[in-house]
Amino acid sequence: MRKNRQRISKKTSNQRAVAHYGADILDSKEHKSCDKYIQHGNTNVRQHTTSVACMAVAIARKTRLKYDYSALVRGALLHDYFLYDWHEPHHGLHGYTHASIALHNAAEDFAISPIEADVIKKHMWPLNLKPPRYREAFIVTLADKICSAKEVFGKPIYNKKVEEILDEHE
Ligand SMILES: [Fe+2]
Ligand SMILES: [Fe+2]
Repeated sequence: MRKNRQRISKKTSNQRAVAHYGADILDSKEHKSCDKYIQHGNTNVRQHTTSVACMAVAIARKTRLKYDYSALVRGALLHDYFLYDWHEPHHGLHGYTHASIALHNAAEDFAISPIEADVIKKHMWPLNLKPPRYREAFIVTLADKICSAKEVFGKPIYNKKVEEILDEHE
């Protein structure tokens, strides 16, 4: 598993890495369907998870460690794959339950590696008490919190680069 860890060539942008490793998920009708669910503010779940994937790649590269970038990107794209509108009142425990629901759905629709499963299942740490096992999961928890805070306060990282990735995979 750890043998898949590497560094990304300096010539590759974060945006290209996300489009490359996440291509099959970004092209799937299932991930596209996430655009009908609002995550925070005006940002939908497809935009949010793509932003988190870009942010996760950016943070990982800054650490100069080796990562399984495929698992990092794919886990980030599927970390909120819960497939419902969490603002509806009967989803009151969403904060605690959606990571497990997302993993269940992701495993049904995609081939999920153990690192990807850890990324999805643990992304709500420390709200969900079990900490990430892999460094890829830790990076995504961090990227998710940064992107979520920006979205809540009306300054989404849903920027031109994320828009370009989603346009390519329309
Ligand atoms: Fe989440
Ligand atoms: Fe999230």
